Amino acid sequence: MAKKSAEISPCMPSANAVVSCRGEDGSDNALVVGYVSNCSFDPPMVMVGIVPSRYSHGLVRQNPCFVVHFARADQKEAWDYLGSESGRDGDKLKHLGLTVEDGAVVNAPVITDFPVAVECTVVDSIVTGSHEMFVGRIEHVHADEEFINAEGRLDLSDADLI
Ligand SMILES: Cc1cc2nc3c(=O)[nH]c(=O)nc-3n(C[C@H](O)[C@H](O)[C@H](O)COP(=O)(O)O)c2cc1C
Repeated sequence: MAKKSAEISPCMPSANAVVSCRGEDGSDNALVVGYVSNCSFDPPMVMVGIVPSRYSHGLVRQNPCFVVHFARADQKEAWDYLGSESGRDGDKLKHLGLTVEDGAVVNAPVITDFPVAVECTVVDSIVTGSHEMFVGRIEHVHADEEFINAEGRLDLSDADLI
């Protein structure tokens, strides 16, 4: 098949997640992040890219930890809200009636409505351009029972996620 040149753009297929965070005053927030990826197998780490103008960016800078959540396809309404409204204008989690618990390890909210939550401590960050990539060491993984296999590992192969 003949190849053509395409426009240069961030073209890697990306995962999508809801990333929650907590300011130093204890206020909780979450946003949708498309720039999310594994970045180390050992120790297990992920990175999330947050634009400095986002309200969440300041919260992660104040209190360097976050929780990465995966959402089910039927949670699109909450997803759209978290990915378009800003925590600057009000408490998004309260508005959506989401259930929030303290992290098991990190000082950030775990949104229990979502089937998977991955608690992370920020160990580094790099401003790549439009985004600051926060590298998070995975501290704890919560998942609905159906997504944990017989070996105790997360298995999302049958999950209908956004
Ligand atoms: C599909 C999707 C992917 C997004 N990816 C990112 C992202 O990778 N980084 C980012 O900072 N914002 C991203 N956004 C935008 C934020 O989620 C959005 O601006 C949000 O309202 C910011 O909330 P905040 O101001 O409360 O932090 C994305 C939005 C959508 C819908």
